[in-house]
Amino acid sequence: MTEPTRRRIFVTRQIPGAALDRLCQLHDVSIWPDRVPPTPTELLERVAGCDGLLTMLSDRIDESVMKAAGPQLKVVSNYAVGYNNIDLVAARERGIRVGNTPDVLSAATADLAVTLLLAAARLVPEASAQVREGRWGAWEPDVLLGVEPAGRTLGVIGMGRIGKTFAERMVGGWGMKLLYTSRAAKQDVDESLGGRHVEIDELLRESDFISLHVALNDETRHLIDADAFAKMKSTAVIVNTARGEIIDQEALVDAIRNKQIFAAGLDVTTPEPLPPTHPLVGLPNVLILPHIGSATDTSRHAMSEIAVDNVLAGLSDSPLRCEVPL
Ligand code: DGY
Repeated sequence: MTEPTRRRIFVTRQIPGAALDRLCQLHDVSIWPDRVPPTPTELLERVAGCDGLLTMLSDRIDESVMKAAGPQLKVVSNYAVGYNNIDLVAARERGIRVGNTPDVLSAATADLAVTLLLAAARLVPEASAQVREGRWGAWEPDVLLGVEPAGRTLGVIGMGRIGKTFAERMVGGWGMKLLYTSRAAKQDVDESLGGRHVEIDELLRESDFISLHVALNDETRHLIDADAFAKMKSTAVIVNTARGEIIDQEALVDAIRNKQIFAAGLDVTTPEPLPPTHPLVGLPNVLILPHIGSATDTSRHAMSEIAVDNVLAGLSDSPLRCEVPL
């Protein structure tokens, strides 16, 4: 019996768990050794001659990368639920399958959105900074007063898997009233969470807490701009665990400085990493985390398994376990 052909795979970062071992047993796998990602030039060099790529959300996989890989490239398996870093048109034109890792990170990402919401609403970044920087003075009745979510209105922009998981937590735990946007109303959300499908303007005007759960694309880039902030309540808290570019960051800086909104909690920014000199970093009522939405042991191990399954399926011309429609 002839041995199945060993294919060439490039993995752009070491990933948690033992899933890569399955790939290495069957194929010739090269794994980028550094913690710092390959530069665009290094990426072009390393993909040459590969049949499969296992990529991170921070790797830009555009036509030039696919071309540099060569016509034998069959699959790009992204280690993320989002795939805005991949040129899907170029992939379709070249017959390259694209995979992602949905579902297994919904709980972790929703948990982080809850964390950001509560921490931003209670001014945790400033409170913590006061302790660290020796500014902890006498207990005072009227400083660091936050806002409470219980019974208030939650606006969820994008009612997909993560949006729904987040809404379940906030409605179930804090009895929030739910408004949401999505392409169409969702009967299960309306019935089980008392949600109301609304136009975005109503959501922006009525919500006390707003959380973003849409994919980044041409329709959602800068969806939250100066006009959107102008519609929000001055007590509103905004949370973003989706993609940085959904918010116009300059407009956010102005909205916070001008007290158009109360606070923001961001797991994603533009760019990533955000330089420490960026004006957002210095604002006391903005909490910024380094894109750790899916960063739990459970989530990342499960993502590794799916990402490897996607590569293996793509190499054997089978439908992927989690395939992005092209
Ligand atoms: C993803 O997987 O797209 C998320 O941004 C991870 O946090």
